[in-house]
Amino acid sequence: MVFIVKKTINGKDYYYLNENKREGDKVKTKTIAYLGKNKKEAEKKFKEILKMKKENVIEEKSSLEKIKLSIEEMNIFCKKKGFVYQSGEIYGGFAGFWDFGHLGVELKNNLKNSWWKFHVFQRKDLVGLDGSIITHPKIWKASGHIDSFNDLFVVCKKCKKSNKIDKNELGKVKCECGGNYDEKTAKEFKLMFKTIVGENEESFLRPETAQLIFTNFKAVYDNARMKLPFGIAQIGKSFRNEIAPRDFLFRCREFEQMEIEYFIKPGESCPYEIPDEEILVYSSELQEKNKEPIKMNIKDALKKGVIKKDWHAYWLATEFLWFKKLGANTENFRIRQHRKDELAHYSSDCWDLEYHFPFGWKELEGIADRGNYDLNQHEIFSKKDLKIFDEETKTKILPEVVCEPSLGVERTFLVFMFDAYYYDEKRKNFVLKLHPKLSPVKAAILPLVKRNDFEKIAKNILNDLNEEWNIFYDNSGSIGRRYSRNDEIGTPYCITIDEDSSNKNEITIRDRDTTKQIKIKINELKNIFRKLINKEIEFSDAGKII
Ligand code: GAP
Repeated sequence: MVFIVKKTINGKDYYYLNENKREGDKVKTKTIAYLGKNKKEAEKKFKEILKMKKENVIEEKSSLEKIKLSIEEMNIFCKKKGFVYQSGEIYGGFAGFWDFGHLGVELKNNLKNSWWKFHVFQRKDLVGLDGSIITHPKIWKASGHIDSFNDLFVVCKKCKKSNKIDKNELGKVKCECGGNYDEKTAKEFKLMFKTIVGENEESFLRPETAQLIFTNFKAVYDNARMKLPFGIAQIGKSFRNEIAPRDFLFRCREFEQMEIEYFIKPGESCPYEIPDEEILVYSSELQEKNKEPIKMNIKDALKKGVIKKDWHAYWLATEFLWFKKLGANTENFRIRQHRKDELAHYSSDCWDLEYHFPFGWKELEGIADRGNYDLNQHEIFSKKDLKIFDEETKTKILPEVVCEPSLGVERTFLVFMFDAYYYDEKRKNFVLKLHPKLSPVKAAILPLVKRNDFEKIAKNILNDLNEEWNIFYDNSGSIGRRYSRNDEIGTPYCITIDEDSSNKNEITIRDRDTTKQIKIKINELKNIFRKLINKEIEFSDAGKII
């Protein structure tokens, strides 16, 4: 029998679908699905799920594993476990600003490092840059942000909530509650934060990292001795005075971007092999015809002309691959082309890598073709020659940015958290199945009981592994409680010190995802551990299974 239950967490109501099942002579209750925050929404979802169950779309056993937390539940979870806090919470909070806690900062650093290694270290055609946050005001005049980087502030006639929409959406989109926005009170809202430099010089906090790449383009090209095609990558803070910051980390006023500007000789084709990746493809044509996205190999999408440029196909597949390699659930991704009416002022074509968040398909990463718009504008405004000499044609050319993969760190953080969150029926607790490279804590060292010899061995191992990784030492509570504490924060391995460690120099490693255990010699640990973190060996091949 299935039924709806209401749970109240921190004063807010959440609705779930529960099921009673007879197991032997006992009736057990388990949660099958999250249904939403109000009764009406819950009843609607309830009917949809019953329909899917009848059609066997949802398999009995795996149903809970597939369920995502709502964004509010993720917020609560992140706060409780020390990943993310509302900024200035002791003063009532500050909308759109977030602080990363002791685990959040590690996860964030790990994903930024992984992005940097994949895009900069492991490629010969990309170099890095770290530009300033407060920038010369003329940059933003040249880039078009001062004149065009605005949203429309609108108020819903029905529920009176304010929201932001794009200028072209006025009269076309409705509020979440179904009400119409009041067109009379709609007003333009500048998204850049102003600041004062020195006594009275007005400047801006950058709303994207990209412009610093353009203004430094020539210097990087000369000094790093790059040759076209090549890219410049940057990770750093950006600031937007969002009218309606919402959905936890999804829309913030202060956030980080991982951006690449990829420069080519005008018309140059892509010399790289396009990764063999299949994904849901949602072209502007399909959207205009009100059709559903189609699953395609990205190479085929290029061959069939759905994706126009080889460079776009290459970067879309490459970016998707990065997520895939770090264990993201590929079913939650799709690529969507911007319709003509949504293209930014600088872009001739743009595809977004979208993720299926609990509140719908949303932009995760934008990959725009910016052409030579930016270099051209900076040439005009700075009166400096930003062209480079082309050895082949013996002429000066202004390179084009054929693709600008631009990814938000906070949205990426959410993706990995949502995809890692998993409820384990057998263990009766949840497990954060993060890729070991992303896990905030790589291992917990657990002396089985409080004994001087065990603790001495444990501390030695801790000091050794701490040189390279973030390792926790935990000697309080039962071993089962310590395992589940570490499962919940995504620690991939627990290392137990016991009698065998004292007598035979052996330790036990427990795998978070399978709960399997192996025994290995202490002097082999560092080497084996490195391979496990990098997923170079299977856990069951790393030692003697016990
Ligand atoms: N340089 C191009 C650019 O900034 P964008 O689509 O405005 O393009 C790129 O932003 C990415 O930055 C987005 O796909 C998203 O991941 C992230 N982003 C943008 N605004 C954000 C916000 N208010 N909060 C969190 N992330 C944001």
